[in-house]
Amino acid sequence: MPASRWRYGDQRAFVLELTFRARIYDSMIPLHNNRAYYLHRHDQTDRYHNPRLFRTAMSTKLNPELSVHERYSAASQEREPALCCPVVYDQKYLEVIPQEIIERDYGCGDPSPYVNPGDTVVDLGSGGGKLCYIISQQVGPAGRVIGVDVNQDMLGLAKQYQTEVAEKIGHSNVEFRYGKIQDLALDLDQLGEAIESSTATGKAKALEMIDLPDRLRAESPMIADNSVDCVVSNCVLNLVAPADRRQLFAEIFRVLKPGGKAAISDIVSDEDVPADLQADGELWSGCISGAWREDLFVDEFSDAGFEGIVIDKRQEEPWQTVKGIEFRSVTLLAYKPSEDDCLECNQAVIYKGPFETVSDDAGHVYPRGVRMAVCDRTYRTLMQAPYKDMFIGIEPIKTIPSDKALPFDCEVNRIRNPKETKGQQYNLTIQSTGGDCCGGTDSDSCC
Ligand SMILES: C[S@@+](CC[C@H](N)C(=O)[O-])C[C@H]1O[C@@H](n2cnc3c(N)ncnc32)[C@H](O)[C@@H]1O
Repeated sequence: MPASRWRYGDQRAFVLELTFRARIYDSMIPLHNNRAYYLHRHDQTDRYHNPRLFRTAMSTKLNPELSVHERYSAASQEREPALCCPVVYDQKYLEVIPQEIIERDYGCGDPSPYVNPGDTVVDLGSGGGKLCYIISQQVGPAGRVIGVDVNQDMLGLAKQYQTEVAEKIGHSNVEFRYGKIQDLALDLDQLGEAIESSTATGKAKALEMIDLPDRLRAESPMIADNSVDCVVSNCVLNLVAPADRRQLFAEIFRVLKPGGKAAISDIVSDEDVPADLQADGELWSGCISGAWREDLFVDEFSDAGFEGIVIDKRQEEPWQTVKGIEFRSVTLLAYKPSEDDCLECNQAVIYKGPFETVSDDAGHVYPRGVRMAVCDRTYRTLMQAPYKDMFIGIEPIKTIPSDKALPFDCEVNRIRNPKETKGQQYNLTIQSTGGDCCGGTDSDSCC
């Protein structure tokens, strides 16, 4: 159907149809078309019909998946210096990793410090497996690491040393899966096996094959909903075709547990990348021209529903500059919100400053120094990373158990009357006895 026939009202259906078609065909053919090009923009309010997306759309001449596939197959066999962005990892985790894997590292940052012992971690675009093997040591035997990559040669490199590395580490908690990071429900190995084992023929086979990817996604997803503590990725998201990017972020969000986090190192640009650079397969597969403009990268996470988004690291000097546009690595953290109900447990928080007022992703406003009423869910969120150092938490004197708590209206910003946290009848008077100084025993700590 010619692109010009599609108008705004049709577009969602069209995108869905393309996604559906791509889901079927992509799963059988690893390389697919440049769907973004058929989209038309009519509605400036929808980011997927918005010029910002089209800044990252690419020429019909380039098949990004093909150029990425060829480049990384070659780079799995022999180190490609042009793909290497200098990254300093903690040396103690590298000792167990073979040199071949270390040298074929095509990452641009190190998201490994953000995982915790016992975490289930997914590494998007795991390449030679270096990050997975580092994280395996950090999460320990109680944790689990799943590397996902769509390139069989890279997976081969990563798996080659799996037993050897596990023996050196002392536990085996890493697995590598063949799949696309924008479709984390579909295990391509499983799909291949199901296709091979099908005994149907002719039209019956065609019908079975059409339904097969969705059946596998539903019945045995490669990564289940709400199952992951931390999604990490090192220099991969920018390689995903623009048409698949909304689905990519939706998938990261889907697999994370509520409260889980994404820790993503990737390349961003300081200016829009023009179409001619985006059409260059070498620059695209080299993690350059698929880079998001730095502010739009942050927007992707908030549009997908993440909160507490923090740019934790940003290379000062650009990694590369092309036609005056600077490309550098950032490491960004983003949290999946808790799904708990908003309950009134009489808690309050005080924003410490230095800004006069801040607001969170849910729309709560916190003026500096003011005791604001929050629901139990918000209270617990603000008492953890990334907010905890910015707020003072005030618990009620008498705890309200959640099964006794009333609903809290999170649409309204209001000050918490201290009587609510202390109790209306609170009428205590405590005077200093003059003995101990307030705040300790130092001579200068007296009030
Ligand atoms: C720049 S390398 C980074 C590899 C690894 N993260 C590292 O730090 O060395 C990009 C990797 O992402 C993989 N990749 C690219 N697009 C992908 C996609 N859509 N789904 C899964 N893997 C993908 C490539 O096959 C390649 O192994």
